[in-house]
Amino acid sequence: MSELVAIIGGTGLTALEGLEITHREMMYTPYGEASSPITHGKYSGKPVIFLPRHGSRHTIPPHKINYQANIWCLKELGVKNIIAVAAVGGINMDMKPQDLVIPHQLVDYTWGRKHTFFEDTDVQHIDFTDPYTFELREKLLNAAKDLGFPVHDKGVYAATQGPRLETTAEIDRLEKDGCDLVGMTGMPEAALAREAEINYATCALIVNEAAGRGPEQITMEDIERNLEGGIQRVRELLSKVLTLI
Ligand code: HPA
Repeated sequence: MSELVAIIGGTGLTALEGLEITHREMMYTPYGEASSPITHGKYSGKPVIFLPRHGSRHTIPPHKINYQANIWCLKELGVKNIIAVAAVGGINMDMKPQDLVIPHQLVDYTWGRKHTFFEDTDVQHIDFTDPYTFELREKLLNAAKDLGFPVHDKGVYAATQGPRLETTAEIDRLEKDGCDLVGMTGMPEAALAREAEINYATCALIVNEAAGRGPEQITMEDIERNLEGGIQRVRELLSKVLTLI
């Protein structure tokens, strides 16, 4: 029996084209409302759960996402594996717009977000040495290999607060910290998944050169163009990886 997989969609993936929807479910959680009703369906003939983290109409900014409610719903539904899709900026000059990256590490620069399920109960310290699940990353990498898609097989993800993009000096600092790519939603999502004991891996699509890394300022038009150029490969990768889990 294959294990239940959830896809958390990011910017550019608020709907999963090709998903055969069986039903949608509004869930009530102890943490308030999830980003949207949960979509149940089949993708490549495999059962899958889909949740767009910015809401179905892309109206929830990164710092307002109810990460606790989202992960709680997936746990409640028996999800064992989460594949998170993220549109990110490239810090490492080898990571160009429209490249795919399967990060292996992260640094958390977010603040003021509800970031744990262990707030009021007894003190618990989860191990987070490797924030992304090795086996799930391997499956994504194998899927990419089967499809002949070039991917960066590791990278350090910087989670920033947003919603504004960074300054050049901030990106310089992240680079000094060893970060390769930057996004606004990777945390606390990954940590909450670990607390909930759900496997978690990210498929990141570079949609812009991070601040000060490209010749010009970052425009929404550039980001959208790169999203359009790369999202089809993300869909194909998701479709393929589901057959491997
Ligand atoms: N910085 C932070 N988050 C992002 C970026 C960026 O440059 N691009 C897409 N998400």
